[in-house]
Amino acid sequence: MSSIEVIGGEQLKGELKIQGSKNAALPIIAATVLNKGATILKNCPKILDVLHMIKILEELGCKTKWEGNTLFVDSSVITSPSVSEESVRKMRSSILYLGALLGRCHEVTIAYPGGCSIGKRPIDYHLNAMAKMNVTEEFLKEGEIIHCSTNEIIGNDIFLEFPSVGATQNVILAAALSKGITRIFNAAREPEVTELCNYLQEAGAKISGKGTAYLQVEGVKELHDVTFTLMPDRIVAGTYLTAIAATYGDAILTDFPAWALDSVIRVLKKTGCRIENFENNVRVYCKKRLQPIELIKTQPYPGFPTDMQSQMMTVLCLADGESTIMEEIFESRYQNVKELRKMGAKIRLEASDNKAILTGVKKLHGAVVTSHDLRGGAALAVAGLAAEGKTIVQGATSIERGYEDICRDLSALGANIRYCSENAS
Ligand code: UD1
Repeated sequence: MSSIEVIGGEQLKGELKIQGSKNAALPIIAATVLNKGATILKNCPKILDVLHMIKILEELGCKTKWEGNTLFVDSSVITSPSVSEESVRKMRSSILYLGALLGRCHEVTIAYPGGCSIGKRPIDYHLNAMAKMNVTEEFLKEGEIIHCSTNEIIGNDIFLEFPSVGATQNVILAAALSKGITRIFNAAREPEVTELCNYLQEAGAKISGKGTAYLQVEGVKELHDVTFTLMPDRIVAGTYLTAIAATYGDAILTDFPAWALDSVIRVLKKTGCRIENFENNVRVYCKKRLQPIELIKTQPYPGFPTDMQSQMMTVLCLADGESTIMEEIFESRYQNVKELRKMGAKIRLEASDNKAILTGVKKLHGAVVTSHDLRGGAALAVAGLAAEGKTIVQGATSIERGYEDICRDLSALGANIRYCSENAS
């Protein structure tokens, strides 16, 4: 386990290129099993979650190798369509192999994913959708393992009760090689869902309605070899925008399409930050005390992303007045509250409606804090940058799940931040 040590007080300045997208890479890595051949994925982030998805590919019998940030996958042979319990427990996104392996092998054995640190995270929408597509489901080991099989996936109309990102992706993955047409109503519209569709289309899939709540997948007999470049990570970009704002810095993020983060940029503008877009670059600078935000509610895209809630909470802890955040996607995503309080933040929780009320302070102070989840950990590093003195973020391995090297990136903008061993704290 590593920790991050931050000495606060540096205003971030300079230019930074944004890594490839985690939430696009994970479903696309699962999708590589569908084409029975070669996939070349460029701009693939070297993060723990990606390494974990690759480990599963290898357990399935695929061959993989890296050259820089390019990932090569050969999925000609699948030796066993089963994903171990250990793999699913390590990372919930392993559930994306459900649709992908059903598409490729017509069979999958996969452990039932439990909840995680941010909430219960059920998979009933995924399973109900598969059942409607002619898949038989069987629960083994007292419901801990799911075995799904089909003689042929048959397209159907799928109505999602909530626009779940994972369920939408699993249905797309299962439908790509099915018989007939699958229509997904109330589909998730996240850019990473569109990116999965882009990848599959490049490999020969037939998909329409990309980026809308109504997606249509017409099954094809087979897919072919494909080379694909992953989009930049909008949440990593958003995290660094909040770091620049919280330190009253002035910096440019390059190679990052700001449209994908519109809801976050709009909130940052309301805090008084100036944001300028030119080509694929975004400059953010902040000269005056940050202003509070009356209410932020996390919502499915294009609403404010749950994955940016913790980082924005750090920013609003420093605003001149009272802000309110309502977390509407995951029930346990306020674990940073007690950590931020150690740094001098004033936050009140109203658990009944998942509401956090923040009274901004002029300065946070350094403290020893613990990262409980990926985005929460990154948000604590951002708080450390804005705080007086030294902050140690323990449990920083959770941050490495999604950030290639948060210390490298923030140091490039002038931050005083480094990894250290847990004992050092
Ligand atoms: C979610 C986020 C995604 C984020 C990812 C990682 C949303 C809508 N989704 O995706 O942006 O990148 O976490 O943090 O913000 N649900 C069910 N049954 C299901 C599936 C989901 O009840 O079968 C519920 C979940 O409990 C949750 C909501 O639907 O409250 C959204 O879940 P979903 O979008 O599926 O989660 P992820 O795919 O993990």
